Amino acid sequence: MARKNVTEQLAPTDEGLARAAQILEAGGLVAVPTETVYGLAARADSAEAVAGIYAAKGRPSFNPLIVHVKDLDQAERLALFDERARDLARRFWPGPLTLVLPMREDAKLAKAVSAGLPTIALRNPAHPVMQALLDRIDFPLAAPSANRSEEVSPTRAEHVIASLGERCPAVIAGGPTKAGLESTIIALRGERRLGGGWNLLRPGPITREALEQVLGPETSHEKDKVEAPGQTPRHYSPGKPLRLNAQEVARDEFFIGFGEIAGDCTLSPQGDLSAAAANLYDCLHQAAASHRPRIAVAPIPESGIGQAINDRLKRAATRS
Ligand code: TXA
Ligand code: MG
Repeated sequence: MARKNVTEQLAPTDEGLARAAQILEAGGLVAVPTETVYGLAARADSAEAVAGIYAAKGRPSFNPLIVHVKDLDQAERLALFDERARDLARRFWPGPLTLVLPMREDAKLAKAVSAGLPTIALRNPAHPVMQALLDRIDFPLAAPSANRSEEVSPTRAEHVIASLGERCPAVIAGGPTKAGLESTIIALRGERRLGGGWNLLRPGPITREALEQVLGPETSHEKDKVEAPGQTPRHYSPGKPLRLNAQEVARDEFFIGFGEIAGDCTLSPQGDLSAAAANLYDCLHQAAASHRPRIAVAPIPESGIGQAINDRLKRAATRS
């Protein structure tokens, strides 16, 4: 039997946004569209509100959240920006780039947002509905992807409702998201003049190549540390076995195609990687809902945003 759905669906209108702002102000949760995936938002300055996010997602408390800000001014009240960070914000914000920076001691943020880390992840989203919402409120929004922990991220309001159901009291229905993959996350280390480097913590729509043009080559990782605690191998799980680099399909497989290799769902018949990124989670949601017990995915080139697509697919294929 289908679960009873009591999630309030809000239109992306003045009236819908006023209602969303009211729920958020009172410490409630609202799922919101961004240009990457839908986020499950709560006011980042309230411990109770942030605890609500972890509870609704079933997210482990050691996995910190991204804070969404309306502009660079609001961001600079939460983290320490050096010239490099400001330069990146000016070039890529609003947009799908998350900066992990040292948190300010006087930042008005609930402790659970950063899960005890001395750093904070910040992003200024480009979606007009999310921007209009941030303009209405005077606090930043903590928002992870609006799915149960480890499940496939939502690119449509329906995905949010299917994954979270009544755990998510309201969703702003803003249509399918454009980029379709979560933001690129980078950490800036120390100050550049003191030899500080940077690391790519999660590949995404802003490519490594684009970042290297601004920051130079990535500096070496401290391999023994899991830097983005959410980037554990098992993640983005469609709940069934998934086979990568498949040239052909077995009878019990739901086939996700790309380019000339057509499937039950084809990421981009034209072989366009941005279109493929935008369709990836929708295809994974279809594959999860299909009656076939397995999933196979055609090869995806490892260039540009293809790196981020393959990163998510490898995680989706990990079953332990
Ligand atoms: O596109 C996105 O980034 C979406 C939309 C909603 O903005 N959000 C998103 O959030 O993907 P989430 O919670 O699913 O992923 C956030 C990632 C996690 O892997 C988390 O561990 C990492 O960001 N993270 C957050 N704060 C961090 C910090 N201070 N240092 C390192 N990693 C951090
Ligand atoms: Mg997520």
